Amino acid sequence: MSFQLRDFRPEDFETLWRIDQECFPPGIAYSRQELKIYMRRSASFTIVALPEHGQIVAFIVAGKGAVGHIITIDVLAAARRSGVGSLLLRAAEQRLQASGSKAVGLETAVDNAPALAFYKRHGYCVVDTYPRYYSNGVDALVLTKDLAQDGHPARDGNDRAKKKTR
Ligand SMILES: CC(C)(COP(=O)(O)OP(=O)(O)OC[C@H]1O[C@@H](n2cnc3c(N)ncnc32)[C@H](O)[C@@H]1OP(=O)(O)O)[C@@H](O)C(=O)NCCC(=O)NCCS
Repeated sequence: MSFQLRDFRPEDFETLWRIDQECFPPGIAYSRQELKIYMRRSASFTIVALPEHGQIVAFIVAGKGAVGHIITIDVLAAARRSGVGSLLLRAAEQRLQASGSKAVGLETAVDNAPALAFYKRHGYCVVDTYPRYYSNGVDALVLTKDLAQDGHPARDGNDRAKKKTR
């Protein structure tokens, strides 16, 4: 299957929120308000993915900065393992790199094996653990990737105000 990427448009919001509800369990899925807050940050950008004649099946929200941040990446179950997550992640990394980010970081739940396999495949390394990070009590792993020299771990200096990002 081939996918097109484009920037988020305001009319996409409800679709993205519904995708997030399907992708994450209660306690980790965002409320509409939470998703809006992350997407509307001045440093944030959102890229969506859709098949040529279809509806949005996936999206990524990321934040620019010296160390960029992957806030969330969501692929509907039916579209997984067809490369769309990789397309979105690479597009976000390129945009972060172009905006001056030297590294990128993210958090993901310790029990999210698919996400850990996905990020490791893309050169991310685990650098820290946040105990009971999510509101369901699950720990988060902090992963980073150096964007200047692919694959080298870099610390995020992550602030806990970003709680529940993933
Ligand atoms: C994690 C996620 C974004 C991956 O998206 P995807 O489109 O399926 O990923 P890709 O098809 O680009 O996979 C690339 C590689 O990642 C690894 N990978 C992805 N999903 C995997 C899985 N379930 N098990 C093992 N490895 C996996 C594989 O190496 C895969 O390559 P391969 O298919 O050639 O073996 C998707 O599973 C998802 O949206 N999950 C729910 C939400 C979530 O957990 N997001 C991440 C936390 S923010």
